[in-house]
Amino acid sequence: MQSLRVAALQNNPEFGKIRENLHDLIGLLPPEIDLAVLPELCATGYQFLNREEVEQYAEPAAPDQDPGPITQRLTQVAEASGTTLVFGLAEKNGDKVFNSSVLVRPDGTRDIYRKMHLFLDEKKLFDPGDLGFKTFQACGIKLGMMVCFDWIFPESARTLALNGAQLIAHPSNLVLPWCPEAMITRSLENRVFTVTANRIGREMRNGSPLEFIGLSQIVSPRGERLDQLKQQETGAARATINLVETDKKITANNDLFADRRPEFYR
Ligand code: ACM
Repeated sequence: MQSLRVAALQNNPEFGKIRENLHDLIGLLPPEIDLAVLPELCATGYQFLNREEVEQYAEPAAPDQDPGPITQRLTQVAEASGTTLVFGLAEKNGDKVFNSSVLVRPDGTRDIYRKMHLFLDEKKLFDPGDLGFKTFQACGIKLGMMVCFDWIFPESARTLALNGAQLIAHPSNLVLPWCPEAMITRSLENRVFTVTANRIGREMRNGSPLEFIGLSQIVSPRGERLDQLKQQETGAARATINLVETDKKITANNDLFADRRPEFYR
């Protein structure tokens, strides 16, 4: 498939209200979309108080396991709408809990990514990702996933691009201000589309307030912002993208990947 209709959903979840948060998210999904990216921890909310609380909300989502209720509901949505979905949740696997991103296709099959670079209190709450930066075939493209704070490590997007990703789906709960600008560079330096789905609103469950910055966006391999939402609105950023643009040949004499000098990097 050469062109693809993509969306980034931006919600305002209330902590712990899973049914209501899912209802809101499903209402934000535009019709006729091939791929929709939803925020990190999109149905639970973000600020867990302790590991026990994460375990209470976490659910199985790995492809070889029976999925929990959030994954089941969003799988139904993918099947009914024909839209491939990428969404963030707390994933239980044995005695581990991961801050994961789930890819669900309209045929009901799924894959997962587990956040590699944990932010702030997440280090006390989650286990660090153990699956690396794999890429997956979905909606006619090669798709990679990373979650929120992974953006500040350029190795995340680079590794996904070297593994063939044409588009990076990036569920987020951003609180620092720099990511929307930085993702323009991640797109440009890797010649990939990036779809960052963030949330808005505020949480202060543990006494330290977190303000989520919205600004969900879709960026082209040329570093163009194809659409972006505002800081305070809920909705869906949308774009129709042309995958030919992910070609790594940027001038007659320059190939972004062939010209790398990894023997001098560290
Ligand atoms: C973040 O990684 N949720 C900032």
